[in-house]
Amino acid sequence: MKVFLETYGCQMNVRDSELLGGILRQEGCRLVDTPEAADVILLNTCSVREHAEQRVMGRVRQLSSLKKTHTVKIGILGCVAQHLGENLLDSLPEVDFIAGPDSYRSLPELLCSVDGERTALCRLDKTELYEGLPSYRPENSPSAFVTIMRGCDRMCTFCVVPLTRGRERSRPWQNIVDETKQLVQQGAKEVTLLGQTVNAYRNDDVSFAQLLWKVAETGIPRIRFTSPHPIYFQDEELEAIAECPGVCEWVHMPLQAGNTEVLARMRRGYSREDYLEIARRIRERIPRVTLTTDIVVGFPGETEVQFEDTLSLMKECDFDAGYHFKYSPRPGTYASRHFPDDVPQEEKQRRLEQVILLQSELTRRSNEAMIGHSFEILIHDRGKRGPDQWVGRSRGNKMVVVESNKSLLGNIIGVTIVGTGRWTLRGQLG
Ligand code: 5AD
Repeated sequence: MKVFLETYGCQMNVRDSELLGGILRQEGCRLVDTPEAADVILLNTCSVREHAEQRVMGRVRQLSSLKKTHTVKIGILGCVAQHLGENLLDSLPEVDFIAGPDSYRSLPELLCSVDGERTALCRLDKTELYEGLPSYRPENSPSAFVTIMRGCDRMCTFCVVPLTRGRERSRPWQNIVDETKQLVQQGAKEVTLLGQTVNAYRNDDVSFAQLLWKVAETGIPRIRFTSPHPIYFQDEELEAIAECPGVCEWVHMPLQAGNTEVLARMRRGYSREDYLEIARRIRERIPRVTLTTDIVVGFPGETEVQFEDTLSLMKECDFDAGYHFKYSPRPGTYASRHFPDDVPQEEKQRRLEQVILLQSELTRRSNEAMIGHSFEILIHDRGKRGPDQWVGRSRGNKMVVVESNKSLLGNIIGVTIVGTGRWTLRGQLG
């Protein structure tokens, strides 16, 4: 059976697709590069914003035209499957089966399902951690994702994730360490530890900070993690990031909004002042740290003055980069049930543009401050403009392009920054 698998959304989904690839290959399936070549098309989907969900619907409609000329099944996996459940089968007659993020062990049975029998597997499972499954990772990549926890218990009022990925559960630390050891043997230079709130990790009294030290003992040169939640940062974690040589000096800490009242309605669990204090401690304790964030503009009831608090906080924290979103009501969340989506679309757009403009200015300054300094870069890709170009990341997660007529792929090299572009820095060997 030939399977085409397409992935949308966050790194958790990318990692889940590696598991799906492993399950499929174990079943004797072959992964193919185009939907036209497939017997089964699987979309691993994202529902964090309405736009992401609509993209999937559009893609299904487009792919379903293949059914006119081919015998092909279409399966929807991931968060959209979980979020919409059987309604998805009603609204998209082209879809043959759906499976949520906790149902992937049943994928082999779904693939064998009889024509016309449409199945929906959308039960959340409080214990599923996908231990002991094979996975299929991209070859030659020096970086790998390692899931350390699944689900989320935070219940932020805007966020659909607790509904699609279920309750928070941490993997046994020993399994995480073993997986990293295997990756080291396969030549990996970097792992990114994944979870919705990674610093809430706890297993057998092993905290997130202790996990970082244990993973570092495997000898993996670089450790990253995403995403932490501001309220779970203790001194212990900051110490591990500052002192443990393998842990990269990069903290991606979602802010969402800079006004305390808005934060309270988002149910984020911290005030503006709390966030500023945590950011101050991070910058103080971890020299050369890169601090990045997520921001949502136009949350219900956000006034112009409250929005300006987001801009001023961005300046105070001097974020190095960020992802920025317009609020999008997600059916089933507390906010969509209780708070009218009352910031007009044009106003959300205006606020978004202001945030992007300010961040590009902060990013430009942060990049320019790197010029003339040396950084350790892990090369993970070829450049797009010419055979001698190589792309890598600094420990602070800044993208750097280097020229060399010898392959640098997978190497950790010393680079001096000589210039900046809009998104990337230019570096010279040595
Ligand atoms: N609307 C807009 N952005 C959202 N995010 C999560 N839920 C929503 C929503 N309903 C953003 C948050 C989160 C990131 C992954 O997506 O900023 O950190």
